[in-house]
Amino acid sequence: MANMSDVSIINWNKAEAKPVASGLERTICNQGLCGSKTLDVYHRTVSQGRRFEVQAGNEYHLVYVIEAPKGGTISFNSKSHAAEAGAGVLLVPGESASFEASGSDLQMLHMVTPKPPAAVEQGLPGGPGYFFNRKTLRPLTDASGGRVRRFCVESTVRLLDGSRLTPTNAIQAGEMRYHDGGSSPYHRHVGTPANPDGPSHCYITFKGRGVVQVGDDTQEIEPGTLVFFPTGVPHRLRAKGGPLDYFELQAWKSFKTDVLSEEKLGLKWYYEPVAPGGARVEWDQT
Ligand SMILES: [Fe+2]
Repeated sequence: MANMSDVSIINWNKAEAKPVASGLERTICNQGLCGSKTLDVYHRTVSQGRRFEVQAGNEYHLVYVIEAPKGGTISFNSKSHAAEAGAGVLLVPGESASFEASGSDLQMLHMVTPKPPAAVEQGLPGGPGYFFNRKTLRPLTDASGGRVRRFCVESTVRLLDGSRLTPTNAIQAGEMRYHDGGSSPYHRHVGTPANPDGPSHCYITFKGRGVVQVGDDTQEIEPGTLVFFPTGVPHRLRAKGGPLDYFELQAWKSFKTDVLSEEKLGLKWYYEPVAPGGARVEWDQT
């Protein structure tokens, strides 16, 4: 049976902080740390008055602002945007962006995945990249009402005008909030013919406490913790003692999910109504 030793658990507060030109870089997921073949994750602190520049090269980069207490600026595609919590940029190969910390340090996640094979893209164009923030992303609520998520990268999520949020299956990523007692079903992810090794999958907690279950083992996790689940290892996350805010990530987005627990509705999600009292619309995940 699977147990906690099958997953990797890394807390950014305890990870080595490497000084770089923009501030501090902490590697919290890569092949050496987690066995992830298609995902590297860095926690970055951009020091007040400095700038982090990212050139996507041949890879996809997702940069997400965790905290920006006194703001800053994101520059992408000749436009400037406020660097605030929940804002960020998906960069596709060849694109670039910069993140400037003005009034205070910026805390960010920086995720990198190689360009996926054409079979993973399933006909999607793969680009261009885009800027996002909490105002542009649509909240989704699960059937139990215990979980709310905002995807910043997910190809099947539609914006209000019906267009796709994301033009690529390189990454699926977004913010998740569990209300007190909220839980995922016990589940596992497996590969597909297009992505036989399965996705690199992790949770990164921001606020509140969670409990991860693998087999008969459970472990409480503190804010600032990345938990990496190898393909096929079953898992569940619960909020403990209050709401839990975290980030969830799959790269590449070509996998199948098996629900192993009883929650028959565990994978159904609904867009929150646009107007109060409006009808909720189920998220079509195909
Ligand atoms: Fe999962």
